[in-house]
Amino acid sequence: MPEDKSFHMTPEEFRRYGHAVIDWIADYQSRVESLPVLSQVKPGEIRASLPANPPARGEAFAAVMKDVEKIILPGVTHWQSPNFFGYFPCNASGPGILGDLLSSGLGVQGMLWSTSPACTELETHVLDWLVSMLGLPEKFLSSSTGGGVIQDTASSAALCALLAARERATNYTSNLKGCDGRIVAYASTQTHSSLQKAAMIAGIGSENLRLIEVDDRFAMRAEALAKQIEADKRAGLKPSFVCATVGTTSSNAMDPIAEIAKVCRQHNLWLHVDAAMSGTAMLCPEFRHLQNGVEFADSYNFNPHKWMFTNFDCNCFWVADRKALIQTLSILPEYLRNQATESGAVIDYRDWHIQLGRRFRSLKLWFVIRHYGVEGLQYHIREHVRLAKQFAAWVRDDKNFELAAPAPLNLVCFRHKGGDAVNQTIMDGLNRSGDLFLTHTKLDGKLTLRLCIGQTNTQARHVENAWKRILQEAEKAGEHSRSA
Ligand SMILES: Cc1ncc(COP(=O)(O)O)c(C=O)c1O
Repeated sequence: MPEDKSFHMTPEEFRRYGHAVIDWIADYQSRVESLPVLSQVKPGEIRASLPANPPARGEAFAAVMKDVEKIILPGVTHWQSPNFFGYFPCNASGPGILGDLLSSGLGVQGMLWSTSPACTELETHVLDWLVSMLGLPEKFLSSSTGGGVIQDTASSAALCALLAARERATNYTSNLKGCDGRIVAYASTQTHSSLQKAAMIAGIGSENLRLIEVDDRFAMRAEALAKQIEADKRAGLKPSFVCATVGTTSSNAMDPIAEIAKVCRQHNLWLHVDAAMSGTAMLCPEFRHLQNGVEFADSYNFNPHKWMFTNFDCNCFWVADRKALIQTLSILPEYLRNQATESGAVIDYRDWHIQLGRRFRSLKLWFVIRHYGVEGLQYHIREHVRLAKQFAAWVRDDKNFELAAPAPLNLVCFRHKGGDAVNQTIMDGLNRSGDLFLTHTKLDGKLTLRLCIGQTNTQARHVENAWKRILQEAEKAGEHSRSA
């Protein structure tokens, strides 16, 4: 075999194909609005188009790109369409994509400071920036007792917070001996399901995650929380952790953090604040009242990958007491020992999350913040909120529709007054048409439509068209039910 034989892509080939891929993405951005938002394929259709066996011999890059267009694209739901209003957004942007590409190009694995100092230090720095950008308490700064770390998702952040709370409540013995079934955690009936999963994984048990009732705005009742904690204490259990949400998934409800924090302080419980989507709004000072009391939180997280134009995955997680988190998650096998770690002068982020290895995610966040500046980020967030308020006003003024919950930011929960079947028909019609995509929830037992305005490129005309299309589908649904 000749010594210089290689199947690798050369840097020159990479340059050529790389330009082609960037061109493809730029074209995609230009045409995404014309594609059906929700993928129209049937289950199994994509796989049926793929060869049963992998290629024995390498193929031309152009052939691969052809299949991206022909096979993959029809099976994509276009989260980056400005007509995507479903769930919560999962944003991409030019700077976010390029930062992610650079991270791939460098191919760094930043588990330790010493395995790429820039990977650690840029992350610490950008998360410190965000503390002031979001008006978070100074105790979350790395120069204080706390610090921030990038996790993959809000689910992982919640799990880390819960684990640290569990350890703190058991004097760091549950890692050694396991849980005895007495630790209790609290969330509301509206809290994201990731908390239930975290309780399962952390060995607390989902039955020991108490789901506290909410008020008529779907926000946790702090007095009900206090009552439940007292009852659990009387029963000999060990309350340890509360999750409050800034912007619940179903309806964007805002839990009263200050009141919840008071209860937590009284009983010495860890308060985790989950601001997965709505945390981004805190870039704008006028929305920060929605998280009054955040200065009492032990941990906080939000997802720039939802609404802050940063490609998935990117969750920012802060703790007020980094020692508690590190003591919970740190293990130091011989093969990871190094001088920098021993010196105590560096952060090793492997001790701040579940997995060992980690990507250079702060690059994309840094690119986004530097490209937009605080001013640019604030502009687009305010615009999305303005459009949501406008949409909510149209709903309020229409005799056939009603708002199903307050709309404090960029999510509007609404329904046709004709009942669940009509709403289902409207939603199915809209989503099948490909013109836009929205999703539903149940509030007060009733099927409710959710329109979330947060995709990077959504503008007034997209929201105007969405309302026009909703009215058209409502008309059709009405005719359908009259003739049935
Ligand atoms: C309030 C809230 N918390 C947590 C999550 C889970 O997010 P992730 O996918 O980052 O785990 C979501 C997802 O939408 C959410 O809305």
